[in-house]
Amino acid sequence: MTERGTSPRTAPAWDLLTQHVADIGGTTLREFFAADGDRGTALAVEGSGLYLDYSKQRVTADTVDLLCQLADERGLRDYFAAMASGEHINVTENRAVLHVALRMPKGTALMVDGVDVVAQVHEVLDHMAAFADSVREGAWRGHTGKAIKNIVNIGIGGSDLGPVMAYEALKHYSRRDMTFRFVSNVDGTDFAEAVVDLDAEETLFVVSSKTFTTQETMTNAHSARSWALARLGSEDAVAKHFVAVSTNANAVASFGIDTANMFGFWDWVGGRYSMDSAIGLSTMLAVGPGNFHAMLAGFHEMDEHARTAPWRQNLPVLMGLLNVWNRNFLGTSSVAVLPYEQYLKRFPAYLQQLTMESNGKSVRLDGQLVDTETGAVFWGEPGTNGQHSFYQLIHQGTTVIPSDFLFFRTPLNPLPAADAPDHHDLLIANVIAQSAALAFGKTAEEVAAEGVAPEIVPAKVMPGNRPSNTVVAEVLDPRTLGRLVALYEHSVFTQGVIWGIDSFDQWGVELGKIMAKRVTPLLVDGTEVPGLDSSTIALAARYRG
Ligand code: F6P
Repeated sequence: MTERGTSPRTAPAWDLLTQHVADIGGTTLREFFAADGDRGTALAVEGSGLYLDYSKQRVTADTVDLLCQLADERGLRDYFAAMASGEHINVTENRAVLHVALRMPKGTALMVDGVDVVAQVHEVLDHMAAFADSVREGAWRGHTGKAIKNIVNIGIGGSDLGPVMAYEALKHYSRRDMTFRFVSNVDGTDFAEAVVDLDAEETLFVVSSKTFTTQETMTNAHSARSWALARLGSEDAVAKHFVAVSTNANAVASFGIDTANMFGFWDWVGGRYSMDSAIGLSTMLAVGPGNFHAMLAGFHEMDEHARTAPWRQNLPVLMGLLNVWNRNFLGTSSVAVLPYEQYLKRFPAYLQQLTMESNGKSVRLDGQLVDTETGAVFWGEPGTNGQHSFYQLIHQGTTVIPSDFLFFRTPLNPLPAADAPDHHDLLIANVIAQSAALAFGKTAEEVAAEGVAPEIVPAKVMPGNRPSNTVVAEVLDPRTLGRLVALYEHSVFTQGVIWGIDSFDQWGVELGKIMAKRVTPLLVDGTEVPGLDSSTIALAARYRG
């Protein structure tokens, strides 16, 4: 294996790619497609139930060969093995990274430090399923004897974004006679609005926090406790209306939650990789244990594909390598994620944490500052809505933004229009048209040939040559959601390995938390805090009035 965490510039393939981009970087997507009538199928792969068309990336088969060589030279295969064997590849936190164990089938084993972690995982899954069933069947009763109808997940970051994304994505499969809410922000409005119309007697709070120390979550959990006790009148109600998902049993107990109603996980599950752990309890309550297990099976399928498929057929590895190509060799700095599926409306927000908290790093594992760009900015919105807001910039702006389009062949809500085509035909026509418009654009000659006034022609020229992937799946079901999330997880991992960074720590979020704590006394009662800068002092004074 390569020495871990060195500069990717040490890989011979890096120099070859630098030369290669000088050779082909000026060739446009129009020219690539004109030169090869089969390009649309030649640069496409299928695996784990997903189809990836990357023909509209600014690459040739040689580019892909060189990127795969880079993956080999950076030891990607060994890194996958190291992850799966429980090595502490999260170096700066000295932790194993074993989210793949969360979705290994019952009966398989993964021994880490003499412990079968898969058996532990399934013990928790069984506990979750028994609890979810009892709530869904009405056997679990609140303090006053009423069945639970409302679930409020309290968490932030990975303890919120995964659960809320999965709930929205799988709403079609969820219990429609129950209400699911998600509270994350320390802004009191988030909690107040989430409970404004709920009956405390029928409400269960799921306090989700890996550490059980996160300021926002603990503040919201305490507010929820006061809200519930004010309405239910007794401390005893906590046991019936609060459960916890955490790795910190002591903190859970001191909050007053019976640890029998605590669903555990382990330090080898990163927050942004935890939606398939007990952090998914609210998802399981919404869609039921069967659907949750189907989602886990989809994750596992993609894990196996990522671990075993040759790079050229490997969807997540190819996506990761194409991001490296765009970021480091074509100089792009952001990626738009554009799902043409309304149920995936929170998917871009989920991916923001997954991608940016993982790969937004400037220091390598060897402790040196990086000498290449690392993680791009990820963002997006579902289509077709985005088309009527920010697509203008993607088409004609001065910045090239590679895009990931996603669509599903079968709609979950088929809606025939008065005349054919129906809603879904129109949706898919749009997604396919957008990637083509971005790739091929429209020349001045083509615009002029439409009779456009000469002075308007430049404004109507579409530059084209803007790269995109298109991912196609059959239908958005739990299994496919698992595959899709794992697709991005392994793509993120691939990029991190190429760049030599730790994709599993998040030290960059700490300083702001510490400073917020430090300045709080000044805001609350004017206590002088030594060493503050003049802007902070002035803003605090303005707040206090
Ligand atoms: O602040 C970042 C972070 O640590 C994330 O990585 C994590 O998902 C989130 O906070 C929430 O942490 P916890 O689950 O421990 O409350």
